[in-house]
Amino acid sequence: MSHSPIIVADRGAVRTLTVNRPDKLNALDGATLRALSEAFTAACEADSVRVVVLTGAGQKAFVAGADISEMNGLSAVQGRDFSLLGQRLMRQIERMPKPVMARINGFALGGGLELAMACHLRIAADSARLGLPEITLGLIPGFGGSQRLLRLCGRAATLELCLLGSPVDANRALHLGLVNEVVAADALDARVDERADQLARAAPLAVRALLDAVHVGGECSLEAGLDYESAQFGLLFATDDMREGTRAFLERRPAHFEGR
Ligand code: COA
Repeated sequence: MSHSPIIVADRGAVRTLTVNRPDKLNALDGATLRALSEAFTAACEADSVRVVVLTGAGQKAFVAGADISEMNGLSAVQGRDFSLLGQRLMRQIERMPKPVMARINGFALGGGLELAMACHLRIAADSARLGLPEITLGLIPGFGGSQRLLRLCGRAATLELCLLGSPVDANRALHLGLVNEVVAADALDARVDERADQLARAAPLAVRALLDAVHVGGECSLEAGLDYESAQFGLLFATDDMREGTRAFLERRPAHFEGR
């Protein structure tokens, strides 16, 4: 039976994208990478969506990596193209104007961890295992993993995970700063829903400005980042949501943001 590689489900303003190849531990082949890219484009364009949750089907894996059986047959040129396809998707996720949260329900290995690292927040079940085992295949990470892990967790953790290739458990990942939060596996859904709802209630234009500011700040000097931050901060004074948020505070009531 053939499955759609991505399941799309909406709960209010929260869209969940589920990589759906559980019999292959949700490994990313070219078709799944393309389907994910289309799904993120649609989530970006849908006004009703304020938050995206990314996860994997089944109990066992978030995503166990790029599809090794597909990679096995590639030439050098095709290998580079596969890397570029994956890198484009990761960049697309990282640059989403809406928050993207990874719900890490099991193995997040290789391309799966690279996918999780491209998300803005990561919540892991305590049973999850995370790693970049490409070295054991005679490879290195190809979807940005060596670069994003370096920026997220520093040189020591990057060299450890990439050189040894051994996965770490969720608590070690938390200690390294690789995930934001670890919860018991049976509490994962409730916690992800809670965080997603919190993000969905936030002012969308402020969220977007924040995502942009952090992204720009990660790529430029402190001086340029500060300039960018103040420009974004100033722009938000032109929004109805900023008036609503500050007025709601003064009136001691919850704010209601409309993204204007
Ligand atoms: N690419 C392609 N297929 C994969 C895969 C991947 N990255 N990861 C798992 N699968 C497939 C297995 O081949 C197997 O398929 P089959 O039943 O048709 O033989 C199925 O998913 C289940 O995996 P299996 O290895 O039997 O499960 P396990 O519980 O014994 O081991 C892992 C789980 C995650 C430890 C193991 O699957 C693994 O090491 N996967 C590869 C991880 C990796 O190197 N990722 C980086 C790729 S760049």
